[in-house]
Formats: sequence, structure tokens, C-alpha cells
Amino acid sequence: MKEKKVLITRQIPQSGIDLLCEKVEVEIWPDDMPIPREVLLSKIHDVDGLICMLSDPIDQELLTEAALLKVIANYAVGTDNIDVPYAQQKGIRVGNTPGVLTQTTADLAFSLLMAVSRRIVEAADYVKAGKWKTWGPQLLLGNDIYSSTLGIIGFGRIGQAMARRALGFGMEVLYYSRSPKPDLEREMGVKFASLEEIYRESDYISLHTDLNESSRGLINKKALNSMKSNCIIINTARGPVINTDDLVDALESGKIAGAGLDVTDPEPIEKDSKLLTIKNCIVVPHIGSASYVTRSKMSVMVAENIIAGLSGEMLPYEVE
Ligand code: DGY
Repeated sequence: MKEKKVLITRQIPQSGIDLLCEKVEVEIWPDDMPIPREVLLSKIHDVDGLICMLSDPIDQELLTEAALLKVIANYAVGTDNIDVPYAQQKGIRVGNTPGVLTQTTADLAFSLLMAVSRRIVEAADYVKAGKWKTWGPQLLLGNDIYSSTLGIIGFGRIGQAMARRALGFGMEVLYYSRSPKPDLEREMGVKFASLEEIYRESDYISLHTDLNESSRGLINKKALNSMKSNCIIINTARGPVINTDDLVDALESGKIAGAGLDVTDPEPIEKDSKLLTIKNCIVVPHIGSASYVTRSKMSVMVAENIIAGLSGEMLPYEVE
């Protein structure tokens, strides 16, 4: 397999690269910025395997140029950046990194929930700006987490991990998913709810759905209008699940109380986005899975996907 060529579109942790280098020729795009589209288009001709990032659109135009490509390993669990049906139709296997980032992403989602509700960024900025003169009985009041209701939209691995955190903090948990999960309801003490019930009853709403035609724009003006005015919305899923303009309006008008966003639409967020001027909105740069251990494990997983794909085997983490 030594003659096979694999392109990695960004510098990923060494753990997976070491595995690959034993078996194939590896080229790594060295910049901190994504590989430019025209460079990727020119390189894709003669690679057998591709390790790509969620910021690389792998579409029909690119796949049409990929004469030798046998396997794509996305360095992410979400694969909305890849035209998976088209790749599979061309006989190219597609893999991702499920499972390994579940807890890390749920940690980030819960951190955002706490940070927005207790105004952590605003409070730290207040101190840094030298404004802390005395203890204040009404200074920087926030919302309670204990005994509040969390509505989770998308109840896969990460949604469930978020629920476990919330239950540990004494929250009531409602969830929405395409199919109810009665076993989990009994085991965890969570309750299935319709989207309308989630909007109406939740103090916090956390999004954990993948991006698809029914989730795109799900959180729009109508949905935001039916939320409680103290509701805080958390998005660690994909930016386009929320309509950005509608969210800005809802935050500016006080229709909802706050937002914690790990993902935005567009991504990266525009420098002059109104979201960045709203003090009860925290935006972080898509760092859901960004722990040392998780990113290193993801590197091994993409390498394993590539090695299996180039050996003509089913991938250990194959996208169906
Ligand atoms: C993924 O892997 O899809 C996540 O968005 C990473 O944070």
C-alpha cells in the first residue's frame, strides 16, 4: 500500500499521521487556513485517500475530479460538508469520527449553558475593565440552572450526554427526536415532548440535531416567538439550524434571554455580525470536540478509516 497517496487538508494531531506514514505516502496541507478550493481541486486528481475537515466542502465538482479516490475520512462526526450519496454512488467510502467526541462536545454545550445563564464572560470583562468597586446586591444577576427545564432537540449520543449533565444539576429534561426513546425515558427520567412543547416549556434549549433539510432553519422567528422570554438557546450542532437574522431580532428585542453558540451561520461568523455586539450572546469558534485527548483520538480514527478503505475493507467508522 506504500504507493498509495493520502492528502490531509490540515495539520491534525500526530497520533493518526504516525499510523498512516507506516503504510502510505502522506501529504499534509501545512497552513493554518483551509486549503484553497483551487489547490484542493488540483490535488484531488491523484490521491487515493482524503482526510478532510468540516470546513472543506466535498461536493460533486470535486468528487468528479477525484479519479483515484477510494476513501474520504472526515475529521468530524457531522458530514454535512460532504455530498455523501454522490461519493458513495462513485464507489468512494465515507467515514467520520462518531462516539469519541460525545462527552467533550456535551461538556462544551453545558459550559455554554452555564456561562450564558450566569453571565460569566460579561462578569469577567467587567472585572478586567476595572469596574469592580464593591460587592453588589444586584450586580450581574443571572438565571438558576437547578430546577429549571432543559429542552433538548436531537436525542442522539451528544443530546443524551447533555441530558445526563443536566439531570446531575437537578434540571428537568424534555427531549425531541424523530422517534421517541421509551427505554431511555425510563432509565434516565427524561420526557419526550413535541417541538412546540419544548419551545413553550423550556428555560434552556440545546440543539443536538445533525444538519439536514428538516433541521435547516428550524429555529426561526416562529419558533423563537413561542419560547419563554427567559429562554437561553445553546447551539453546538450546526450553525444553519438557527436562522441568524431571526436570532438577532429575538435577542435584541428581549424575546429570549440569551444564546451560547459554538457554531454559526455563516462560519466563521462575520466580524461585524450583530451577534457579537449582544452582551447576552456568547460565541466560540466551533470548539465542541476541541480537547487534546479527543482530537488525538479523532486523528487515529480517520487514519483507521483510510487504512481500511485503501485495503478495500468496510471502514470501522463508515457513514451509512
Ligand atoms: C463534529 O465533529 O461534527 C463537531 O461539530 C466538532 O465539534
